[in-house]
Amino acid sequence: MSYADLKDSGKEIPKGLQECMPDYRDIHDVEVPNYTQEQHGTWALLMENQSQVLPKRACQEFMDGLQKIQFPRKRIPSLAEISDTIQSHTGWKLMRVDGLVPDKEFFHLLEERIFPSTDFIRERSELGYTPSPDMFHDLLGHVPLLTNQRFTAFFEKFGRAGVKAFQLGHPGTKMLPRIYWYTVEFGLIQNPDGLRIFGSGIVSSPNEVLYSLSETPKRFPFDIELIAQKPYDIWHMQEELFVIESFDQLELEFDRWARAQGLL
Ligand SMILES: [Fe+2]
Repeated sequence: MSYADLKDSGKEIPKGLQECMPDYRDIHDVEVPNYTQEQHGTWALLMENQSQVLPKRACQEFMDGLQKIQFPRKRIPSLAEISDTIQSHTGWKLMRVDGLVPDKEFFHLLEERIFPSTDFIRERSELGYTPSPDMFHDLLGHVPLLTNQRFTAFFEKFGRAGVKAFQLGHPGTKMLPRIYWYTVEFGLIQNPDGLRIFGSGIVSSPNEVLYSLSETPKRFPFDIELIAQKPYDIWHMQEELFVIESFDQLELEFDRWARAQGLL
């Protein structure tokens, strides 16, 4: 069973994805794990925490995405049900993975409008934050914006630039993960109502939500040249955050940068 959904769509499977993802399976063909009551309870606790802290802190585009997805509050959802909802809005889909996906494969997936998600949940002791992959981060953190056409236009382009960077052996292979970190994972946005969060690393962490909008971290206007060169630290709260004006700005700036680099 390989590449079934891509084949069914009549679309040619890109060579890069064939090589990188030999275990690719349609999300509907993946067995749903038998979660324990404690694991469902962990999901419920995380959902409860985040529904308290996200209003007026997460950006409007993210809150609109939450409305569209309607995550179950008391049980862990299956990836297939979430994937179907995303697909109905933007055509993006989920794929199940065992953990972190290497950058090269990740770019190929994004180019194909596929987002990789784990299907296991963090331990109770890691409710506040976990740097390890887990499905609460993948789903609550990333999925709402996958229903937003403005964001997915940027995300698909980002994947395309990454595929090209690997093909060319371009330093973009190092720069793109930094851009990803300071935007998709830890980005802030200036909404008409005020400063808001859109980064998945922040929205899926109760601690980081409050911290990111507090007086403590330094916040700077989005500067793609600067962040493309800026290393990041996955083990501590983010001391420096970047603020985009809009998802239009993010896409336009990314497009300009990637063309200048010869990646689009
Ligand atoms: Fe993430």
